[in-house]
Amino acid sequence: MITLGIDTSCDDTSVAVVGEGQILANLVSSHLIHSEYGGVVPELASRAHTCLLYPMTELALKTAGISFDEVDLVAATAGPGLMGSLLCGLSFAKGLACASGKPFIAVNHLEGHIYSIFLSHPHLVPPVLVLLVSGGHTELVLVRAEFEYLEIGATLDDACGEALDKVGKLMGLGYPAGAAVERLAKEASNPVPLPRPNPRELEFSYSGLKTAARNYLAVHPDTSPADLARGLEEAAFDHLTDRVVRAVKKSGVYQVGLCGGVARNKRLRSKLSAAGDEAGFKLYFPLPELCTDNAAMIAVAGRARYETFGESLLDTTAFDRVAFAQRSSS
Ligand code: KG4
Ligand code: ZN
Repeated sequence: MITLGIDTSCDDTSVAVVGEGQILANLVSSHLIHSEYGGVVPELASRAHTCLLYPMTELALKTAGISFDEVDLVAATAGPGLMGSLLCGLSFAKGLACASGKPFIAVNHLEGHIYSIFLSHPHLVPPVLVLLVSGGHTELVLVRAEFEYLEIGATLDDACGEALDKVGKLMGLGYPAGAAVERLAKEASNPVPLPRPNPRELEFSYSGLKTAARNYLAVHPDTSPADLARGLEEAAFDHLTDRVVRAVKKSGVYQVGLCGGVARNKRLRSKLSAAGDEAGFKLYFPLPELCTDNAAMIAVAGRARYETFGESLLDTTAFDRVAFAQRSSS
């Protein structure tokens, strides 16, 4: 079975072709224009998606070496994300499916991120404790069985990636800044000491860290950018690591998956690996290119849903927010 996947949840346009567990094409086009504004400009993102979807679909099929006739299923992200952006990819995918008579499946972007772990580790079976850490989300999701998700922790304010992006913007690193923060941090000699956030139990909080970094810069304007970047990483990732260890102990689940754009970061991976060695849990990372937004993960999640629940209705519309997982009451 061949699935064409489309993701336009935010500012990247992505089109993928996935065969039997094999990625045949996974194209991602990042719109550099947002960097000039220090954040995503929704209208510009929608316009770029509209221009890119058709040629990128043609190129994805060409890269995969197949024609559209050979596609069996069309999958697209329906949410959460920016409404305008979502509608571009979703409407395009529904149009393709409707015109060709092929089945269409709507995919939750967060479920897509979770499937990036299973795509990279096909033999991994639930239960898996997942840390989803991206520009819009920081949450702990217990995958109890296929399609059975329990959210056991989430951020009270900013997402981890959002905090890296906002401090990176102050430092003039453009948008998104996570990868630039990682590159700079490698050159640090004397990391800036920043406070570790400490909300309740399995909650996360990043707005205080962002303010602490801003205040530090105001008082110490000559701070080396590398030292600030490293200090920021240390505080941000210690917080993530601390919550993962707590969640493992609380849930008794010793398989931990990491996904979302921030999961690309090598410092975060090594901190979590060290914690895993100490606390006895095993870590599962996706391939780096599957951490940040991409359509291969949407194709794989879509296929899994389609095989179990059948196709989505063509009147399925986009959603900006939705309770993706059941919430833990304790
Ligand atoms: O998953 P993603 O591509 O989009 C969302 O669904 O939000 O994640 C984007 C986030 C941004 O905040 C970006 O700065 C961060 O992932 N990011 C990184 C790295 N690469 C991307 N953060 C830290 N280190 C990286 N290497
Ligand atoms: Zn994402």
